[in-house]
Amino acid sequence: MKYELNLDGGFALRPADSSDAPRIALWMAQPHIQHWWKQDWPVERWAQEIERQTAGVHSAPCVASVDAEEFGYVELYRVRHDRLAEHYAYEEHDWGVHVAIGDVTRVGRGLGRQLLRSLADALLHAEPACSRVVAEPDLENTPSVRAFGAAGFEASGELHLPDKTALLMVRRRH
Ligand SMILES: CC(C)(COP(=O)(O)OP(=O)(O)OC[C@H]1O[C@@H](n2cnc3c(N)ncnc32)[C@H](O)[C@@H]1OP(=O)(O)O)[C@@H](O)C(=O)NCCC(=O)NCCS
Repeated sequence: MKYELNLDGGFALRPADSSDAPRIALWMAQPHIQHWWKQDWPVERWAQEIERQTAGVHSAPCVASVDAEEFGYVELYRVRHDRLAEHYAYEEHDWGVHVAIGDVTRVGRGLGRQLLRSLADALLHAEPACSRVVAEPDLENTPSVRAFGAAGFEASGELHLPDKTALLMVRRRH
């Protein structure tokens, strides 16, 4: 699936394609991302992964920018097609979000929470049938839990996923 979205605050999301694989592979190898994503794959595997997602209906791989500077990787996913659907009472139009700020100079400075707030606002605005945007950060991933919380996502219970105990974070339409 491809998804393109203009956000407020100078943010934008564009669909990733296989030409982004070298940079995404570099981002994924950064320790602060590798520790949580565990997707520090070779470039070729990332190129295949982006093509696989783009051809399917489950998720949309995207590159995030602020003021036209690209700084990170975002996956938007349809909860109804995701493993998460087995773990909470999802609604048909729920969106899920995975995020990684690849530019280390921009981590821990409030950019993540601004992006997540703008992104959730834009998804809810673009799709009136959608009333929730969710995420499932590892319970121990304090920066992520803090950033989602500051972006208006509410902690809504622990989820026991196969590879981690996650916190379900839910941003509702206000
Ligand atoms: C998660 C991520 C997107 C958040 O973006 P960010 O711009 O770094 O986040 P923010 O600066 O908005 O907020 C980070 C919060 O974590 C806190 N924090 C940062 N490092 C921390 C640490 N080592 N221990 C505890 N808290 C920490 C910050 O103080 C801040 O919280 P507070 O100001 O509310 O107290 C970014 O850190 C990232 O890409 N991390 C690696 C990938 C990842 O974990 N993705 C999420 C998977 S669900």
